[in-house]
Amino acid sequence: MKPKRTLSIAPMLDWTDRHYRHMARQITRHTWLYTEMINAGAVIYGDPDRFLRKNDGENPVALQLGGSEPADLARAAKKVAQYGYDEINLNCGCPSPRVQKGAFGACLMKEVDLVADCLNAMQDAAPMCEITIKHRIGLDKQTEYQPLEDFVGTLVAKTTCKTFIVHARNAWLQGLSPKENRDIPPLRYDYVYRLKHTFPELEIIINGGIKTNAEIAEHLQHVDGVMIGREAYHNPMLMQHWDKLFYGETLPETNYEILVHALYDYAKTQLNTNAQNGVILRHMVRHYLGLMHGLNGAKIWRRMLSDAKLLRNNRAELILEAWENIQNSTTA
Ligand SMILES: Cc1cc2nc3c(=O)[nH]c(=O)nc-3n(C[C@H](O)[C@H](O)[C@H](O)COP(=O)(O)O)c2cc1C
Repeated sequence: MKPKRTLSIAPMLDWTDRHYRHMARQITRHTWLYTEMINAGAVIYGDPDRFLRKNDGENPVALQLGGSEPADLARAAKKVAQYGYDEINLNCGCPSPRVQKGAFGACLMKEVDLVADCLNAMQDAAPMCEITIKHRIGLDKQTEYQPLEDFVGTLVAKTTCKTFIVHARNAWLQGLSPKENRDIPPLRYDYVYRLKHTFPELEIIINGGIKTNAEIAEHLQHVDGVMIGREAYHNPMLMQHWDKLFYGETLPETNYEILVHALYDYAKTQLNTNAQNGVILRHMVRHYLGLMHGLNGAKIWRRMLSDAKLLRNNRAELILEAWENIQNSTTA
């Protein structure tokens, strides 16, 4: 049986690629992982392997699609399902101008009937996958709760979607960069709690600005799951206790020693088997920079793993050497 979405790692463009997801999976066995958003057109017309390839052992894992043409999303979803994803998520939360130009992402919140058609088309094309949606609590300067309830209520009436991931702030479609849109519109967690209250039968996942295990525990009093983005990227060891704390796991947690060796083994294998596909050490270790967050030797680790000269040699051993240097520095 698949674990619940009690915890999940947010989809993050350029960040939650398969190398990051591999690292996250070494730290937590049960947390759901999300890919970066992939444009439906890229899946249909591009090299599917490039966009859909994942590592064994990543599941439970969801692929996020961007798009607004039901027929395209259906074609893409069919391919995604063949790659063994558990879930396909539709992006209705991204405010970037590029995405708006393609008339998808957050601006889809203005077109709920179209969103319903998209979700239904995806579900028909990929019956084995759960189809879910990630959206905001509203658009622009709108402040009322009701439009959010209406949006979700319409989708409940018109689709079989049962899982709603809600980034608890509005998307401002004009005047803010995507980065500012993740920080400036105020967080309204109470709207997400209220949504769960209105639709108790739905799986409601809260997202936005959540950074600690204590905050996660507090949110779980009100909703079914918590999705974490930036903090899990910049401080991956935040995930270290999640299986025990939030999934009741009794197997031992990972530790730095085990993790560093697992990452070394992974990098070595990738360099041996995937070099012809252009895989280089930097593609992997760039995601490892935050691993030692809070430890004494964190600076050494970051410096070694981002040193262009050292990376150029493409030796997986660099990971072990950086770890050794940390240990030497703390015992010196
Ligand atoms: C670098 C970066 C890329 C992102 N890319 C996506 C994306 O592809 N799809 C998406 O739905 N959200 C994307 N997001 C938003 C996150 O999924 C999440 O909703 C947001 O960061 C708020 O959560 P947090 O405060 O825990 O980071 C991205 C965020 C960041 C920082």
